[in-house]
Parts: sequence; C-alpha cells; structure tokens
Amino acid sequence: MSRIYEALQKAESDRKLDRNELEQVLPEPEPVRAAMMQTAVAEIEEPAAPVAVVERVVERVVEPYEPEIVRSGLSLSNVARCAWTPAIDRLPALQERGPGVEQFRSLRSRIYELRDIKPLKSILISSGLPQEGKSFVAMNLAISLSRHKSSKVLLIDGDMRRYTLHQMLGTEAHPGLADYLAGKATMFEVMQRMAESSEGAKGAVANLANLTFIPGGNGGDKAADLSGNPRFAELIRAVSPYFDWIVVDSSPVLPVSDAVNLARACDGVLLVARSGVTKYPVAQRAQSELKASNILGFVLNAVANPPQVGSYYGYDAETE
Ligand SMILES: Nc1ncnc2c1ncn2[C@@H]1O[C@H](COP(=O)(O)OP(=O)(O)O)[C@@H](O)[C@H]1O
Ligand SMILES: [Mg+2]
Repeated sequence: MSRIYEALQKAESDRKLDRNELEQVLPEPEPVRAAMMQTAVAEIEEPAAPVAVVERVVERVVEPYEPEIVRSGLSLSNVARCAWTPAIDRLPALQERGPGVEQFRSLRSRIYELRDIKPLKSILISSGLPQEGKSFVAMNLAISLSRHKSSKVLLIDGDMRRYTLHQMLGTEAHPGLADYLAGKATMFEVMQRMAESSEGAKGAVANLANLTFIPGGNGGDKAADLSGNPRFAELIRAVSPYFDWIVVDSSPVLPVSDAVNLARACDGVLLVARSGVTKYPVAQRAQSELKASNILGFVLNAVANPPQVGSYYGYDAETE
C-alpha cells in the first residue's frame, strides 16, 4: 500500500518538475506558442500516463515547425525578390480601366461585404473540372485585392499537379508549395515578390508591389498526400498575421481530392463556373464535394457580355 502511495507521490512530483521545465523552455511571445502551451497544459492535466504525455509535449514544443517565422516574425521586405515578366494579356486586374478590371473590382466588393458578416482572410478558389478559370480568377482576384488600399496579399498556387500561376507572373515555379509540404523547404524559402527592376509593362511593378507569391512546386504523384499534410494549415496560421488576404488556387475537385484537403485550412471557398461550358450537374457536384467548407458562392467566369459596372456614368465605378 505504502509503496503504491510513494510511487504516486513520485509521479506527481515528476509531473510538477516536467511542467516547470516545460515553462522554462518556452518563453512566450507569439500567439501560436501561447496556443500550443494551452494545449500542452491541458494535456498535462490528464490523469492517465502523465509522464509519457509530458515527454510527447516537450518533443512537440521544443522543435517548432518553422522557427524563422514563428520565432522572429515575417518581414516582407526580406522575402526574395525575383524578376517577374507578367503576362499582361492574362491579367486584366492590372489595368486602370476596362470591363475586366471592373468585374474584378465588383467581385472584390462582394468579398469585402462577406467579410463584414464573418471573419474572412484565406480564400480557396476551386471548380469541378479543369479549364474553368480557377487560376485566372485566383490571380486576378489577388491582384485586385492587393491594389485596394495597398492590402498585403499572399497568393498560393495550391494546384501542385498543373501549376500555372508562375507562368502568368513570368517567374519560376520552384521552390514551391510542394517543396514546403514535403519538408524540403521552409515557408520563407518558397515565398517571392517582384523585383523592382523587373521588366514588366508600365505600372505592373507598382501594381504588383503588395503581392507575395508561393508557386506550386512539383507535387506530381504525391500531390494528394502533400495536400493532406498538416503543414499547410500551419503555413496559413503562421503567415496570417502578416497579410490582409490569402488567395489559394487549387486543382479541380471532381477528379482529385487535393482542393478538399486544402480547403479545410481556409476560411472560405469560391467556386468558379465557366459561362457556356460548366454544366449545372458539374457545378452542383463541385459544391457537394466542398460542403464541409464555408462556400462563399460561385463566380461566373468568361461571360460574353458582362454588365458594365459603372459605365452608365462613363467612368470606372470605383477607384483603387
Ligand atoms: N475570363 C476569361 N477571359 C479570358 N480567358 C480566360 C478567362 N478565364 C480563363 N481564361 C483562359 O482559359 C484557360 C483556362 O483557364 P485557367 O484559369 O487556367 O483554368 P483552370 O485553372 O480552371 O484549369 C487559360 O488559358 C486562361 O487564360
Ligand atoms: Mg489552374
């Protein structure tokens, strides 16, 4: 009886010791750490096998997944600057006026309205099938958001099979999201911004100044596994404080499950349907695949005669 009592006493004092050690290991500036700490303390309170639990927690906390951002913070001025040569004809949101830029301003306004109702920062763009305009919408929406009140926007190419956003910006696709998710690169290493000396069309450098980009990298056959890696949610959580918006392009939801995995880490999902191409059952099934996520709505892409926003007055409806 007394031996059991002594053993219990010893386990209790070991627990206290481990908790003290844990608190010493963890100076506490960032909220991410604070959240981890709460989890750690909650688990320590568990009565069963306390020593084993503490060992596991120490292991998890002492090796943070991304020291340079979580510990020191992300300074956007330190993100690598790359020479971008944007494909201007695919980027109507870069223009000063015209139906393309107006449609994206209008979409942006809708998104701001949605954010007034419910917190919204990370938005995944998807659709049922390839070629419906996901990448076109993701890229132009990201540019439009970044031009409004100099908002800081992170654009992520989450289609690790057919990544195309880097082509639209005229830059490298590597290292990219797939490399980060595979643990071959840090989140800081896969980010890039436009070099001020880039040879873009007039105004492109200024209009892309607030955009940070993570290209796709080559996920290949491993894309499904990579998209399910918790490192994606860690990325979104760690960089969120440094951006006003995060836009994530993705693969189509009907052939592969990657987008459904990535959507779990995002605040909302915008679905794209291509006018005259997307069949109603395809749009319906895409919506159903993502029903566990917060679907913000559909974007009807490539409409032949879109309503001319603000054209009645002969000038753009909205300035940036
Ligand atoms: N609204 C649009 N106006 C003009 N071209 C478009 C439009 N939407 C998409 N495209 C073009 O259609 C092709 C497929 O679009 P993309 O965004 O790559 O589709 P997805 O990402 O869904 O596979 C691309 O060449 C793209 O430039
Ligand atoms: Mg695409």
